[in-house]
Amino acid sequence: MDDKSTQSLLYLNGVTVSFDGFRALNNLSFEIAPGEMRAIIGPNGAGKTTMMDVVTGKTRPDAGDVVFDGSRDLTQLDETEIAELGIGRKFQKPTVFEMHTVEDNIRLALKNDRRVRATLVWRESGEESRRIDRILETIRLTPLRNLVAGSLSHGQKQWLEIGMLLAQEPKLLLVDEPVAGMTDAETRQTAELLKEINRDRTVVVVEHDMTFVRDLGVRVTVLHEGTVIAEGSIDPRSPVSSAATESAKQASSTRWRVNNRSAGAASFWMAPILPAFCPTSARGAGSPMCRKAVKSFRC
Ligand SMILES: Nc1ncnc2c1ncn2[C@@H]1O[C@H](COP(=O)(O)OP(=O)(O)OP(=O)(O)O)[C@@H](O)[C@H]1O
Ligand SMILES: [Mg+2]
Repeated sequence: MDDKSTQSLLYLNGVTVSFDGFRALNNLSFEIAPGEMRAIIGPNGAGKTTMMDVVTGKTRPDAGDVVFDGSRDLTQLDETEIAELGIGRKFQKPTVFEMHTVEDNIRLALKNDRRVRATLVWRESGEESRRIDRILETIRLTPLRNLVAGSLSHGQKQWLEIGMLLAQEPKLLLVDEPVAGMTDAETRQTAELLKEINRDRTVVVVEHDMTFVRDLGVRVTVLHEGTVIAEGSIDPRSPVSSAATESAKQASSTRWRVNNRSAGAASFWMAPILPAFCPTSARGAGSPMCRKAVKSFRC
């Protein structure tokens, strides 16, 4: 990339990733402002996880710019260097230390020098204890702090892992399908939790659950076949938005909850939403791209 600097916290421009000739990302471009929370939606195989792989250095793009914090070219850094810059990632499956207590999971993840912690003379400072307390409050696990993580519900494990990421103090948090497999109550609480986290940090969240996305109330980017086809907010007052909610409700009570890997379910809930986005998309309402997207989601 040329000497380009940007006001965005995360800047993707023309990013392409191919696997054996198949373009998982195809000229993908979008920007996330500092302090923003953005939801990314799209059907199975749209390239959402691959996008996160590129941002975190797991996958190298064939082409395009990926810039963090104004001027850091992420395509030149490895996964550890990118994590150290302040990008935290939550994978879909929770990975916590099952045999340790909830509190110890957070303690182990705290951002500090682990070599010092490994010595006999190490003592937790008051500031570290307060940080652990604050994180446990944020992730709603204070009453369960002394339980072993293995005894938590799936949703609580997801929150614990989010807490472990917070302990690393990332500037940008990437969260992939956090509410898959959660109960409705846990899903609602997760939306609240992410909104709280977003007071201090920038968040990018990928999700299929449209009720959850609507609860977040943030700008939404729609990916399809590795590219952005639309971007905008879901206006709660618009009739199209009500249709989307209705559709999402039906989807969550039928096929979507049964099999959230089903492309058919994705088609089902996305179709009513796309017309709402297309007018705000750079490509415009009724454009060939917009028509193609709506059609493909319906088929
Ligand atoms: N390592 C890989 N090798 C080959 N193909 C891959 C690889 N990783 C992803 N793909 C393909 O790239 C496309 C995009 O996959 P990706 O996982 O990014 O989609 P997604 O939007 O996250 O989908 P989902 O909603 O199902 O999680 C898919 O067709 C997938 O099969
Ligand atoms: Mg994915």
